[in-house]
Amino acid sequence: MTNAAQASSDLDSLVLGLEASCDETATAVVLRSADGRGRILSNIVRTQWEQHRPFGGVVPEIAARAHVECLDTLTREAMREAGVGFGDLSAVAATAGPGLIGGLIVGLVTGKAIALAHAKPFLAVHHLEAHALTVGLTEGLAPPYLLLLVSGGHTQLLIVHGVGSYERLGTTIDDALGEAFDKTAKLLGLGFPGGPAVERAARSGNAARFELPRPMLGRREPHFSFAGLKTAVRRAAEHVAPLTDQDACDIAAAFQRAVNDCVRDRCARAMEIASERLGASAPRHLVVAGGVAANEQLRTTLHELAAERGYELHAPPIALCGDNAAMIAWAGAERLALGLRDPLDASARPRWPLDLAAAPAIGAGVKA
Ligand code: KG4
Ligand code: ZN
Repeated sequence: MTNAAQASSDLDSLVLGLEASCDETATAVVLRSADGRGRILSNIVRTQWEQHRPFGGVVPEIAARAHVECLDTLTREAMREAGVGFGDLSAVAATAGPGLIGGLIVGLVTGKAIALAHAKPFLAVHHLEAHALTVGLTEGLAPPYLLLLVSGGHTQLLIVHGVGSYERLGTTIDDALGEAFDKTAKLLGLGFPGGPAVERAARSGNAARFELPRPMLGRREPHFSFAGLKTAVRRAAEHVAPLTDQDACDIAAAFQRAVNDCVRDRCARAMEIASERLGASAPRHLVVAGGVAANEQLRTTLHELAAERGYELHAPPIALCGDNAAMIAWAGAERLALGLRDPLDASARPRWPLDLAAAPAIGAGVKA
C-alpha cells in the first residue's frame, strides 16, 4: 500500500452514493470508519415500477427520463436525512456500469458535477462490485469469500479475493436468474416486477405437479443456463391453458424448485473449486447478493447447502439485496480507503465484466 493509500484508510470517510443504472433511482450517505466498519446515514430508493408496468418490463428511455426527474431531489433528501452538507463529504460515488446507458449517464454526470463543484474526489463504481461488497457494510465480512451474484442482468459465481479482485468461476450461458423470474412471471400473468410475484404465487403452489428440467446439473464448470427452463415453463402453461390462478401458482412453485436445485448444484461445485483455489484451511464463507438474493426459498436452500459443507452463509438484509445507493457509497468508500480515485472524464460502461480475464463460457451468449 502506498503512503497516500495508507493515509486514506486511516481516516473516517463520508461518501455520497448515486445509483441510476436500471429502474431504481437511489441516493445514500455512508460513513466508513478508519477501522473499516460502515454505517448507513441515509438510504433512499425510488422504484420506477409504476412507469414501466404498462409495458411489462423496463423501457430504457422511460428509465433515463425518470432518473433525471428525481435524482436532484433524492440527493438533497439523502443529504438532509444524513444531516450533512456537501462540504462534509470525503468523496462522491456514482454507478458507472454495467447497466442501461441513459441512466448511467444521468447518475455519472450528477455525481461528477457535485464532486467538481465541491472539490471532492470522484469514484466511478462498478454496480456488481457494489453488490459483491455489501456484506462488508452490513456484517463487516472481509474477503476472500465465494460469491453467488444473482440479479436481473447477471448470474455469476466468483471468488472475491479483495476490492477490485474477482475470479469468475461460473456464469450464465443465456438468461440471468432474475430475468428468468421476470419472464416466468410475465408468462404466467403474475405481474411486474417478476421475482417477488413468482415467489408469492409459489407459496400457494404444488411444485410436484409439473416436471421441469434442471439445466447444467452435474456439469464440471459451475455455469448456469435458464433458457431451457423458461421454454419448459411456457410449454407447461400452454398445456393447461387457459390458466387458472392455481395453475399459475403450481407452475411458479415448480419453476422456483427447479431453480433452487440448479443453484444448489452449481454452488456446491463452486465450493469445491474455491477450496482448491483458496486452500482447504481458508475460511469458508458463501455470500449471496443481488436482487434475487431476496428470495426466501433460495436463502433457505443456500443455508442448508452451506451447513452441509461447513460454510457460513452471508446474505444482506432484504432491503439491501435489490438496487440501492448505500452499496454504491460503500464500494466508493472501500476504493477511496485504498487510495483510489477516478477522473472526471470516466465514462459510462454498459457492459463491464467484474473479472476481465474470464474466458467466455462455452455456448455463452452476449451476457456472459
Ligand atoms: O440487483 P437488482 O435489484 O437489479 C439488477 O441489478 O438487475 O435485481 C433485480 C432482479 C429482478 O429480476 C427481480 O425480479 C429479482 O431481482 N428479484 C427477485 C426477488 N426480488 C427481486 N427474484 C426472485 N425472488 C425475489 N424475491
Ligand atoms: Zn443490481
